[in-house]
Amino acid sequence: MAYDFHSTIERRDGSSLKWDQILAYSQDLPDGVIPLTVADMELKNAPEIMEGLRAFLDHEKTILGYAGPPESYTEAVVHFLSTRHAWNIERDWIVNTAGVVPAFYLAVQAFSNPGEGVMMMSPVYHPFFFAAGQFDRHVVNCPLINRNGRYEINWALFEQLASDPANTTLLFCSPHNPVGRVWTEMELRRLGDICLKHDVLVLSDEIHFDMVLPGHRHIVYATLGEAYAQRSVTFSAPSKTFNLAGLKTSYVIIPEEGIRERFKEHMRKISAGSPTILGFKACEIAYTKCLDWLDQVVALVDKNRRFVEDYCQRHIPEIRPYPMEGTYLQWLDCSSLQLNDDQLKDLLWGRAYFFASPGRMFGEGGEGFVRVNLACPTSYLENALERLEQVIRSR
Ligand SMILES: Cc1ncc(COP(=O)(O)O)c(C=O)c1O
Repeated sequence: MAYDFHSTIERRDGSSLKWDQILAYSQDLPDGVIPLTVADMELKNAPEIMEGLRAFLDHEKTILGYAGPPESYTEAVVHFLSTRHAWNIERDWIVNTAGVVPAFYLAVQAFSNPGEGVMMMSPVYHPFFFAAGQFDRHVVNCPLINRNGRYEINWALFEQLASDPANTTLLFCSPHNPVGRVWTEMELRRLGDICLKHDVLVLSDEIHFDMVLPGHRHIVYATLGEAYAQRSVTFSAPSKTFNLAGLKTSYVIIPEEGIRERFKEHMRKISAGSPTILGFKACEIAYTKCLDWLDQVVALVDKNRRFVEDYCQRHIPEIRPYPMEGTYLQWLDCSSLQLNDDQLKDLLWGRAYFFASPGRMFGEGGEGFVRVNLACPTSYLENALERLEQVIRSR
């Protein structure tokens, strides 16, 4: 069945964080303007999820009380990881959490001590900085190297930082938001070998692992081998993939028992939340009935990526889309406009209503870039790029 990814959905009167953000910036938005910022989709949820949740709510035995993970949910996660990601896990490795961000905040607290450093690679998903900068831990940044449009790990610096015994954890983004890299097996092994050698625990945020564009393959870090798995904590969720972020449903996979118990103990200590009954149900339906929908969304993202590349090349050569391997977020180099970050935001948001996320949010290396959310009907992007072109041409 072909899903409808063309209909535009006006969300400005709904309850969308992303829309609220741009409406706070300007109440007076022209028709057809949409936010291209926060990573949820301007696409309807798969009808299978909506119908499945409706049927679940209508069922006479459904009661919305406190929920543990239903057996059918756990089964769905195990099966999905095995079939989509070649990762065969034990059921008791799964720890369910109410969001990946809260989960990696927790992990930083559980697995590092005050005074220690949390490694990461900027430009990177900005909550990484906040998670590492709390509770007396600190950010240890190993900025990615931008080799003419392709981002690589700075191996020499990475090894140097990892060898400092004060740096005990790595908060790793795979695939990488915002630069769109899907790390290769060689890169993952090299990174893993350094972390094993220096006893750095790998906290691997793989929430974007289903959004991998044709020609690339995501490898779950923990599948590299037993030694890597035993020193890993993996975070993922159906929330990016199936546009379910509002349901706060995610999971952490921890193969090693001691590490897992420490994480759970920490969850208990701060009374951390777990997903709701509707979140469990939505995830189960997504992982069992919506794979076709997912494949079509990936195809749409790939089409949108090509559309933006082509449009910029032909009409706005000042904007340079970077090669994109995964996620649904495209990284655009705007540095040849020769504007500082305030001026760039003013031009994009203030004049063109081109509401992309400013690159500087993502730390060192993000200056002069913007991140564009491609999970929307192509017509929205066309509209946004036309406005941007007009403003740039009239400068
Ligand atoms: C790398 C990464 N991790 C986590 C999240 C959000 O996770 P959650 O909504 O489950 O807290 C995002 C959202 O964009 C993300 O890009």
